[in-house]
Amino acid sequence: MTATGCRDTRAEVSLDAIARNVGLFRANLKEKVRLMAVVKADAYGHGAEETARAAIRAGADHLGVAFADEAVALRYAGIEAPILILGHSTPRAIEAALRHRVAITVSSREMWDDVVSVAARLGKQAIVHLKVDTGMARLGFQPEEVLPFCAGRTHPLMTIEGVFTHFADADNPDPSFTRGQFERFVSLTDRLTDHGIHIPIKHCCNSAAAMRFPEMHMDMARIGIAMYGLSPLAGISLPSFPLLEAMQLKTKISYIKQVDANRPVGYGLSYTTPREIRIATLPPRLCRWFVAPAIEQRLCARSWRARPDRRSRMHGPDDDRRDLAAGRQDRRRGRLFRPFGRRTDFPP
Ligand SMILES: Cc1ncc(COP(=O)(O)O)c(C=O)c1O
Repeated sequence: MTATGCRDTRAEVSLDAIARNVGLFRANLKEKVRLMAVVKADAYGHGAEETARAAIRAGADHLGVAFADEAVALRYAGIEAPILILGHSTPRAIEAALRHRVAITVSSREMWDDVVSVAARLGKQAIVHLKVDTGMARLGFQPEEVLPFCAGRTHPLMTIEGVFTHFADADNPDPSFTRGQFERFVSLTDRLTDHGIHIPIKHCCNSAAAMRFPEMHMDMARIGIAMYGLSPLAGISLPSFPLLEAMQLKTKISYIKQVDANRPVGYGLSYTTPREIRIATLPPRLCRWFVAPAIEQRLCARSWRARPDRRSRMHGPDDDRRDLAAGRQDRRRGRLFRPFGRRTDFPP
């Protein structure tokens, strides 16, 4: 027996908002530029299968995941779109990818050899994208390694469909690091072309770069956070990307208590009451280790300082207004509270 219907907290996801956000990117990319919807980590907590379907309907051509098992789950759900594993794949993961027609990121000679040997054992064709480290300093070939690696390296079971890099700092108002990464990447792809090595999909943009630097779109943009309606660009306003936040968290106040002045509150005694106030307890804080990462991150970052739900009139922008209007506690208990997310037409 389960008791899943007993909780007052739920995250609601608007697939229409996701589709609208994908549509914004579609409209801002040139026709030939492909759009990859990044649905790793259960679509950043929004539901991978549903998000993938909504994104594809709205114009995404590819899906990006971090691990082979995420790709396999999408295949089992009947999703046939091209999928690329963006992270590292072990030989077991490579086998799963090949069996399910999923493209693999190859970021070293050793990984290439692993893919060749699994492909040969299974007699299956492998599609790979080479990852180049132009500044993130994590996975990837160094730019100067790629040309000697590719030159003359053909194998009947291996197709190099793509070559890509990942920006480390594309949301920084100062674009110089990103421009440096882009220059290193383009100089590499130009050298490949000059040597007659044609790799069809060259890509480098994440959400932030795709929104800010149209000149960097190349053959594909990989969109994650912005597809879910969260702008990676704090303080940079881009009128052509009026994103819609896709997730809202709804909960109900579970308890209200009066607390004296100068009393520490909660784990780690991290807050001290500045005066006598009323404190409301919200259920998500009680289960903080179990909520999805997307929710947890946003709760920690925003819930106590964020814009209040105007109907509950609970929180002000400052910590010392974390209380309720005096004398109203009984009527407030059980009221709807929205720690984040825009109001939609969902039933309450
Ligand atoms: C290689 C790669 N490209 C693109 C993305 C999407 O990034 P963002 O969510 O900033 O759009 C990710 C996400 O982690 C990624 O790993």
